[in-house]
Amino acid sequence: MAVIAAKCPHIKVTVVDISKAQIDAWNSPNLPIYEPGLQELVESVRGKNLFFSTEVDSTIREADIVFVSVNTPTKTSGIGKGFASNIKNVELCARKIAEVSLAGKIIVEKSTVPVRTADSIKRVLRSASKHDFQVLSNPEFLAEGTAVNDLLTPSRVLIGGEQTPAGLQAIATLVQVYACWVPADQIITTNLWSSELSKLVANAMLAQRVSSINSITALCERTDADVDEIARAIGSDPRIGNKFLKASVGFGGSCFQKDILNLVYICESFGLQECADYWNQVIAMNDYQKKRFAVNMVKTMFNTVSGKKIAIFGFAFKKDTGDTRESAAAFVMKDLLDEQAVMNVYDPKVTREQMMLEFNYTLNITEETCPNVNKLIITCSSAIEACRGAHAIAVMTEWDEFATIDYQALFDVMQKPAFIFDGRNIVPHAKVREIGFEVYAIGKPHDTLF
Ligand code: UDX
Repeated sequence: MAVIAAKCPHIKVTVVDISKAQIDAWNSPNLPIYEPGLQELVESVRGKNLFFSTEVDSTIREADIVFVSVNTPTKTSGIGKGFASNIKNVELCARKIAEVSLAGKIIVEKSTVPVRTADSIKRVLRSASKHDFQVLSNPEFLAEGTAVNDLLTPSRVLIGGEQTPAGLQAIATLVQVYACWVPADQIITTNLWSSELSKLVANAMLAQRVSSINSITALCERTDADVDEIARAIGSDPRIGNKFLKASVGFGGSCFQKDILNLVYICESFGLQECADYWNQVIAMNDYQKKRFAVNMVKTMFNTVSGKKIAIFGFAFKKDTGDTRESAAAFVMKDLLDEQAVMNVYDPKVTREQMMLEFNYTLNITEETCPNVNKLIITCSSAIEACRGAHAIAVMTEWDEFATIDYQALFDVMQKPAFIFDGRNIVPHAKVREIGFEVYAIGKPHDTLF
């Protein structure tokens, strides 16, 4: 919305939320999320044509276009538990819009939703209001950490709508908004269902690429092949392409797992078991990769990490974000907690409070379910603090500083033998080996064979 406000000065954009704390944060000098460039962008338009408010009803009433951008997490109970998306918040929005509107509007699904959700929104609107609403699907493809740039120069904007005269008119209205800064040939229009499903398929295919390259890492470690060399060799084929082939400890984030589970659920509900199994395997491979990393750590450190200090470098699911949702770090740390390891965590953007919320929400880890968790996990404000007295470093997030940090200084304060487990392949391996570290890196020939 900040980008729309910045690129379309003639449009007034008001972001509403029922949470006063959220809105207050968006109106304050400290935005509630970290994203490079966002602070400056919001400050350039806030109070001019971008507003944050808790006045939900009047804002809806005044608007010509309403973007529904609420969260749609995986259901944690009931039918489809653990797979289906919970679209409760989307339905609540539709009911609210129907209740307070005095005229028809364009409703834009921005939230990621299961295919055919627009149908449910339309039915709710039509049954609760006499006005004419058009529902469009306009999924978001930005990635965290690069969100502002992705929005300023999107690879494409996708808009789906009903293929009726009124539907096509609504599509044209939204196209006009994006056309303020996106070239016309990058604005793709489709029917509603293709647009909704494209979002799930895009994320499923991206996640599949990560799982595919990750599936090769275990083989590389056993054959002395190097996964980065393989990525370069295969990526130079334009049909494969060189992006998104970086082997890792496993993908995380709020989208990949959730959207694949949703796709799996939709396939199953249409009786397409083979299709469901195919996509489920992308998740299974990711789970295997996270588990394998933790097991390798324990095995390498003489089959026990009980009471040993381990420095965890990074907790965010990727660099340049403070977002921790589904972060691979949490899963690896859970396995190390089970082994009674002590973990010194350093992440430049993640607070202890956020980390503990993630443990609780995704893994049900609290002081009650996992006694001593608050003692076993220690948060540190620098890498060197995390390394003091530690037996190993585990790199979980590819923050730039972990590539350039003074590893000699870290080595000097650690126990010996000092291990590095590089889950992102960003540590200068030859250099740290020279210093004296024993190195395990994903998909690379390494010191000890398992
Ligand atoms: C993703 C999609 O990229 C974006 O288009 C969609 O709108 C939302 O979901 P995001 O989750 O923010 O974006 O980050 P992304 O860069 O896609 O990374 C997802 C995960 O995959 C991260 O944990 C990342 O570290 C991992 N990853 C990505 C790899 O392990 N290797 C890669 O080569 C790329």
